Amino acid sequence: MKIGFFDSGIGGITVLYDTLKVLPNEDYIYYADTLNVPYGPKPKDEVKKYIFNAIDFIIEQGVKAVVIACNTATSVAIEELRNKYSILIIGMEPAVKPAIEKSKDINERVLVTATALTLKEEKLHNLIYKLDNEHVVDLLPLPGLVEFSERLEFNEEIVLPYLKEQLFKYELSNYEAVVLGCTHFSYYKDMVKKLFPSNVSIIDGNIGTAKNLKRILKEMNSLNEGNGSITFYNSGIRVEDKAGVHRYNTLFKRMDSINEQN
Ligand code: DGL
Repeated sequence: MKIGFFDSGIGGITVLYDTLKVLPNEDYIYYADTLNVPYGPKPKDEVKKYIFNAIDFIIEQGVKAVVIACNTATSVAIEELRNKYSILIIGMEPAVKPAIEKSKDINERVLVTATALTLKEEKLHNLIYKLDNEHVVDLLPLPGLVEFSERLEFNEEIVLPYLKEQLFKYELSNYEAVVLGCTHFSYYKDMVKKLFPSNVSIIDGNIGTAKNLKRILKEMNSLNEGNGSITFYNSGIRVEDKAGVHRYNTLFKRMDSINEQN
């Protein structure tokens, strides 16, 4: 059986990219809710409806697990999803813990970036409350990165000015770690890195999620011998046309180039 990946848009490809490294012999469904992206600026109840429609569709295709490759969807719906469906559901949340572990005192701050909706949600606030004893965490939404990536805009001359405008409000030399708490942001890991001093760690939860999925499937004796095939759906419509497939190939190439730089 296949593994379903879900995101509001193309952000979840950054997670699937890392998953293919640790689970190359599985077959995948990738579902982007292209008609409704972005979720970040929308009200919670509206976003929840989109999520349940998408997960119903993915489960109808017959999958053994679903990865919610979207921090926003996880923060608004993970408990309800697990209550409703009996199959394995893996969520994602901003990687605050490894980031805080890097900061040794109040002068070594952590910047958590995510969508406006994730930043508003109780789930993240509870996590930070539990871990951030020294009050080192600052929060920053970066909605422009969702828009840029959905347009396949990876040109530094266009994206860097936006990032500078957002980040230069902070004293960047005070930071020890930056959390990319939205899967769309991982397409810009290299550009974020460029703006901070070289010792600053830029952290996303992608490889951790992939390894977690592998560990659980192994425990469940549910690993496959597939060939790494991916079937793409944009809001329930299968992507088979040349332009649609090319769009996804461009995203995998973008991730290749980020990986080569690391
Ligand atoms: N990729 C999503 C996340 O990880 C959300 C982007 C959006 O739809 O605003 O939070």
